[in-house]
Amino acid sequence: MSKEGSTALEYAKAAAPVTEAPVRLTVNGEVYELWVKSRWTLQYVLHDKLGLIGAKAFCDRGECGACSVIMDGRPILSCMMLAIECDGKNIETAEGIAKAGHPLIEAYVKYSCMQCGFCTPGFVVTAKALLDRNPNATEEEIKEALAGNLCRCGTYPQHPKAVLEAAKKLQGG
Ligand code: FES
Ligand code: FES
Repeated sequence: MSKEGSTALEYAKAAAPVTEAPVRLTVNGEVYELWVKSRWTLQYVLHDKLGLIGAKAFCDRGECGACSVIMDGRPILSCMMLAIECDGKNIETAEGIAKAGHPLIEAYVKYSCMQCGFCTPGFVVTAKALLDRNPNATEEEIKEALAGNLCRCGTYPQHPKAVLEAAKKLQGG
């Protein structure tokens, strides 16, 4: 093959879109290694491939917060993140928060923060991320942090009560 042909082939290979790739994800402390297609969102992989159904595709367009997960300490919308970009990331989902016995879970039950419950895991994840970075969050700060999470059932007044109680418990109260 001529030098020119080889260069053209290399160029073509480099320009070809990546259609799938292996990723290594740490989810709730467990390591998963899998091949993902370039179009798969993180929400799809968590929900449909790993069986972690807490992160829901409610709007599937970054508007409701139902797909929230914590990635490397920050809350993100997993429907807006391609799984192929998450190689090496540390992810926490509602399942991990529940399994760890976080006081948010008990408080959410106590204050009946859910009706249909579809949006609830997203609220819990966002609230957990808030308390991780601000254990003394005020009611206003809680409302602000949860402002991106939408609930069709209108459970909004209950969430700050539950988050404030969980914060108190975390501080030994
Ligand atoms: S499903 Fe991701 S923001 Fe609504
Ligand atoms: S509890 Fe039904 S959508 Fe929020």
